[in-house]
Amino acid sequence: MNLILSSILIFQALAAVQGAQQVFSRPGSRGHNDGPLANLHEYLENARIKTGIPGMSVAVFHKGKLVFAEGFGKRNEHDPFTVETLTQIGSVTKSFTAATVGELVGEGELDWDTTPVSKYLPEFELKDPAFTSQITLQDLLSHRTGFPSIDTAWFFSTKPKKELMKRLKYVDTKPKMSPYVLYNNVMYAMAGEAAANVAGIPFEDLAREKIFKPLSLSCGWSTEELKKRSNFAMPYNANSFEDAQNGIFVQMPLTNMAAIAAPAGDMHCNVLDIVRWGQTIMHYGEVDGKQVLNKNSVKEMLAGQSIFSKDRRSADFAPIKGYGMGWILDSYKGNIMYHHSGHIDGYITNLALFPDSELVIGHLTNIDTAELPLYSIYHIADEILGLQKTEDWLQVTIEKSRELFNQTAEAIRGNFPKRIENKPSTRELSEFEGDYVHPIYGDLSIRLERSKGVKEEKEDELSFKFSVYEAKLEHYHYDTFRVFAKYSIFFVSELVTFMMGDDGGISGLKVKLDDEVRVFNKKE
Ligand SMILES: *[C@@H]1O[C@H](CO)[C@@H](O)[C@H](O)[C@H]1NC(C)=O
Repeated sequence: MNLILSSILIFQALAAVQGAQQVFSRPGSRGHNDGPLANLHEYLENARIKTGIPGMSVAVFHKGKLVFAEGFGKRNEHDPFTVETLTQIGSVTKSFTAATVGELVGEGELDWDTTPVSKYLPEFELKDPAFTSQITLQDLLSHRTGFPSIDTAWFFSTKPKKELMKRLKYVDTKPKMSPYVLYNNVMYAMAGEAAANVAGIPFEDLAREKIFKPLSLSCGWSTEELKKRSNFAMPYNANSFEDAQNGIFVQMPLTNMAAIAAPAGDMHCNVLDIVRWGQTIMHYGEVDGKQVLNKNSVKEMLAGQSIFSKDRRSADFAPIKGYGMGWILDSYKGNIMYHHSGHIDGYITNLALFPDSELVIGHLTNIDTAELPLYSIYHIADEILGLQKTEDWLQVTIEKSRELFNQTAEAIRGNFPKRIENKPSTRELSEFEGDYVHPIYGDLSIRLERSKGVKEEKEDELSFKFSVYEAKLEHYHYDTFRVFAKYSIFFVSELVTFMMGDDGGISGLKVKLDDEVRVFNKKE
């Protein structure tokens, strides 16, 4: 989801521009003791503990001033989480991707919605040639292609990108394009790839050149680079909400999950970077009195392109949620609100802009399961804009967090048909052994691990290996086995059913991945 710029420099640059050093408040020396933010430090620290977050940072930009910027908790076992602490920002990357494309649109190198993507990127070929000839960058960036999620085929993949792209043509899309968002990371990656192909440089370099450098952001790409930075947060998770509330966290590996689909979410930034970014977008690409980004392109990113969710909502929000390009379009208590959250393994981020009141709120965390960044923005908006209170957002966050942990636990448990007792496999385990392949997901291998000898009680066992997921297969009934394979915070908790060919041998297996049953054929 990294170029080394000193984040200290950025810090000073921001403070100098706003003449607002005093607002970089620290406990005990806050400069806003009587304003609407008087209790924000205490509120957020209490919320952090009650909702189980190891470390986080929050920054608030209001009417040309950074009025609040603080770190809370820890970024690793030893060090405090500060406003300069970098985290992965997950899908908040998408607005940077749309803006990078927008710069090339401004230069006349690309266009949003006239030229098919396949013109810019010949490898972009979908199953339906009519779709391939129609889909534009704007379709990709507004999630309206009807192309379903195949994240498990991409995330963690070490295959060359070109090879993964060749597999796109095996994916069934919806029969027609739709105004409704079918959120898609791989399509975002393709938009970035198309821009990179036209520019003739890697997408990451293009974004550095077009966005990070002119805006003096300390953001970067890839966990490889993140690890080299001096002040980055390690990712964490907790085994239950109770553990999280009690401060019992599990440190996660810093994976390179999104490297293959970088434009969808492989960036890292600190909280000062993201509020500076929000401020730039809010001012249609103008920052410090200079037009840094193409104004029309930024406007196009914030224009309604598709419908994020069509369900009716509470009166605090817009009746439906829209999507621009890299931004969710909403309103909160009569105030226009653009925002986007990000979730990547071990980090939850949110960035919200309220352009009519010149308010930007950024919130970074280093935990995989958290709702606070999604709701803190409403509490802060209530306070700063003096809005009528309708909800206790901390209480809402606690309920939502509990639900989120519960959903994960349910997904780990799996939702399977009832096991039929005493129905052994129809054949020797060795017959299942082999290499299996799926046109989109690639290779999956099943191996038989033989017990060492007659004296050992251990029985022969089948093992499952797909992408980064490795585990034993546990017999369920007939030729169906259960697999629970975990990697970082990701897991495959599914049934694997072997299939018989006409010759009576094993022809393949099926397993649900990305919410669809996928059939892998056994290789000869
Ligand atoms: C999730 O919550 C439901 C409803 O409260 C409960 O029945 C279920 O056992 C919970 N699941 C887990 C795995 O804790």
